[in-house]
Amino acid sequence: MRKKIVAGNWKMNLTFDEGQKLTTEIVNMYKDENIKDVTVVLNPPFVHLFPVKKLVGDTPNLFLGGQNCSDKASGAFTGETSAPMLKSFGATYVIIGHSERREYFNESNELLTAKVKQALENGLTPIFCCGEPLEIREAGTHEDYVKNQLTESLFGLSDEDFAKIVIAYEPIWAIGTGKTASSDQAQEMHKALRDHLASKYGQEAADNTSILYGGSCNPGNAKDIFSKADVDGGLIGGASLKSRDFVDIIKSF
Ligand code: PGA
Repeated sequence: MRKKIVAGNWKMNLTFDEGQKLTTEIVNMYKDENIKDVTVVLNPPFVHLFPVKKLVGDTPNLFLGGQNCSDKASGAFTGETSAPMLKSFGATYVIIGHSERREYFNESNELLTAKVKQALENGLTPIFCCGEPLEIREAGTHEDYVKNQLTESLFGLSDEDFAKIVIAYEPIWAIGTGKTASSDQAQEMHKALRDHLASKYGQEAADNTSILYGGSCNPGNAKDIFSKADVDGGLIGGASLKSRDFVDIIKSF
């Protein structure tokens, strides 16, 4: 059975005090409002991981993730953070291949394969991001473009490793723009991706894979998007920085 997941991606936002305040509010609302059956993942910047973990404690279904990890396990790589470090600080998830990493830090499908491998070897669940830029959507080749991202980075995985992957479809033209894909556009792509996964790993494995939608998801549109058959939750940027909005999105299933 695939999981319903809502992951918050803080990106490069919030100071120590702001991060503590946001986490405290989310944990309190999460407990008070009796949320069940949704896996929630907070992905703060690395320096927040330890204090955020302390606040989250052992709250059931509330997990921690990194926004990235190195493709190497350790060594002289100034400024990098490894998957073993994330694990040791209490993270169980890691976002890999976010479009901002692909675009601003030139992360290739090949590099992302190595990052996915690092994550899996260290017991972290990769939230693997894919998505097309506007010009590809306008050219009408978006399905092939995104399928190719999955093929190149994930299709070398064993069946056993593939079963641990979460996918996040994030059309780049919808990230941080206030322009959301319609729920039908999201469903169409998610279905195409699930069929693509089935062609490689079989229908059962594809049916068990959580595919999240990301891109200007907010409390006003989450219910509609999450109601679609192949949408299993969201990767939330801007709205994850506001506790009320983030928790309302979690409650949108
Ligand atoms: P957004 O970001 O919700 O601010 O559009 C989503 C993401 O980039 O993960």
